[in-house]
Amino acid sequence: MGKKLVIQPVTRIEGHAKITIQLDDAGNVDTARVNVIELRGFEKFCMGRPVEDLPRITPRICGVCPWSHHLASAKATDAVFGVEPPPAGKKLRELCNSVAYMEEHILHFYFLAGADFLLGPSADYSVRNVIGVLQAAPDVAKRVVRVRHMCAKMLEILAGKPIHPQAAVPGGFSKPLLAAERDELRKMAGEALELAKFSIAFAKENIFPKYLEVVKSLGVITTGFLGTVKDNGALNLYDGNLRLMDSAGKFVDFAYDKYTEHISEHIESWSYLKFPYAKNWGSFSMSLEQPGGIYRANTLARINVCDHIDTPLAQKELEEFRQKFGRPAQLTLLYHWARLIELLYNAENAIRLLDDPEITSVETRAKVTPRAARGVGCVEAPRGTLLHDYTTDADGMVTNVNLIVGTTHNNAPINMSVTQAAKSLIHDGKYDQGILNTVEMSIRAYDPCLSCATHRLDGKLGVRLDIFDANGKLLDTLAN
Ligand code: MG
Ligand code: NI
Repeated sequence: MGKKLVIQPVTRIEGHAKITIQLDDAGNVDTARVNVIELRGFEKFCMGRPVEDLPRITPRICGVCPWSHHLASAKATDAVFGVEPPPAGKKLRELCNSVAYMEEHILHFYFLAGADFLLGPSADYSVRNVIGVLQAAPDVAKRVVRVRHMCAKMLEILAGKPIHPQAAVPGGFSKPLLAAERDELRKMAGEALELAKFSIAFAKENIFPKYLEVVKSLGVITTGFLGTVKDNGALNLYDGNLRLMDSAGKFVDFAYDKYTEHISEHIESWSYLKFPYAKNWGSFSMSLEQPGGIYRANTLARINVCDHIDTPLAQKELEEFRQKFGRPAQLTLLYHWARLIELLYNAENAIRLLDDPEITSVETRAKVTPRAARGVGCVEAPRGTLLHDYTTDADGMVTNVNLIVGTTHNNAPINMSVTQAAKSLIHDGKYDQGILNTVEMSIRAYDPCLSCATHRLDGKLGVRLDIFDANGKLLDTLAN
């Protein structure tokens, strides 16, 4: 075998990963893999806890996505206790979800992915970063920092604090919203909407046309898609049915607590991340030519599976997107475009919820009593469909936990996109920093959060410990 290329760490993603590209003797790509080199393991140590603790514990999975875990977990506890939160409780949760989305989509577009587009994929890494973005577009960057700060402030007003929240509880939401707080939030949401409108207009004028060739070629794979829709087929990010669409656009809708009838989790020996796949489409395969059971989640998936968006500005953008790229759109870099449509939707949705008189109702929470049950909670996290599945005994103590996290759904697709990118860009052993960064761009499109997604702890995959002496000579390797 020829040379092995290692990109480590993969930068401007959440969490830790490396890419290993194995070249053959002729210097062409034999295999490419994304190795996730961290382990969180929450599925195991949440067991044995009172189930009402889980909405407070699981946000600690991730400092970037605490709201998604908080809300999926609260919904799972509703199901375990068999209660339905009052309308205001649900609306406050959905409002928090939309505000958290805005913060995260803005972060990704401008600061994680933005450097590749504003500075160029081949720009030197010393400027291809958030500081480079601040220098290249100071006015836009200042506005972005301001609105992100404002989103955090909004969450603080809604829930007492912006990260690691505790406000959503089994049966609803613990903190009703005061009219004065609503008025303050409404002003901030208006400013966020202006930034959302600016962002998609700016990208459509200055970024997407410039990179159209890259969009058409980089990391391109053909898969199905998973997302959440309301009964009328409208996009929804807090609640609804799951819709699993195949690459031809044919789909099946099902209640999210029935996910195991449609989704299985495959395991590979080289990753702490599992590989979910659509089990009714045949056996799992990551072959680029004949993929098996592969579907994608996150922005592009949701924009593909919904029939429409029930806010006017985002709907208009969806129509334009569909006219240009069809349904389902497969080009991986279109995740960025879809992300900006969702940013707009969330700003509009936050305003709609704040303008709803029911949002300030003091009836935000239903009473709960422990029982032996299984409950599934699901929200669309910014990074994909997030499932929390809990089982409790008669005292309400947790006896089983399964999490399927947004990024986990995209594990196989990310590996496939990286393989496609490496194979199309690296030939005859020739590569440079620009090419390797372009391979990384095929991962960044998915906005993965690996710290969220790595929970496999089945005893089959151990940690390997390499022991080196002071001169870097390998002395011993400990592995199970
Ligand atoms: Mg799991
Ligand atoms: Ni996360």
